[in-house]
Amino acid sequence: MVTAQERPAPLAIAKITNLEDKFLYDTAGMYDAEIRFLEALQLTLPHIQNNQLKSLFETHIRETQQQIKNLEQVFSAIGQQPTRVNCDVAAGAVSDGQKEMLLSAETPSLLELTIAGEQAKVEHLEVISYRCLIQVAEQMGQNQVVELLRQNLQQEEQTVQKLEQCSPQLLQEALSTSRSARR
Ligand SMILES: [Fe+2]
Repeated sequence: MVTAQERPAPLAIAKITNLEDKFLYDTAGMYDAEIRFLEALQLTLPHIQNNQLKSLFETHIRETQQQIKNLEQVFSAIGQQPTRVNCDVAAGAVSDGQKEMLLSAETPSLLELTIAGEQAKVEHLEVISYRCLIQVAEQMGQNQVVELLRQNLQQEEQTVQKLEQCSPQLLQEALSTSRSARR
């Protein structure tokens, strides 16, 4: 069993006592979340057959790689090394998604509907997280940081919209599979 002393200190923050501490902690959580989401996108891609959804995932993998670099630039702009803080909500979202993917693995149309729905949840989570980070960075007067975070936010918002555009077709395909299975 790992004791508390053996656990590596993920970030040199014992307490959050000012806006700068809070910003660093939340950025380190977002950095962890983006790395987890990138791994999940890459693992999910081979399971997608729908062309629109596949190309959305391919684009968003490239965007997420850039977003991680943007976050590394955010750390550098505030004079810090890139550091991860375990983001439990991101870990939970990935694990929930994988669980439902396993359960629907035998029916491709339902699997793709599940993948799109789980990804939409992740994107909404990222949108709200970046909005909060931007608000704090604005208060800190960190204009370069605000600009980098806005680039990430914009891509997450566009991905939400694209997923919403995919969903009627995915729903339709899942519905016809369900109907033919009942016959
Ligand atoms: Fe994203």
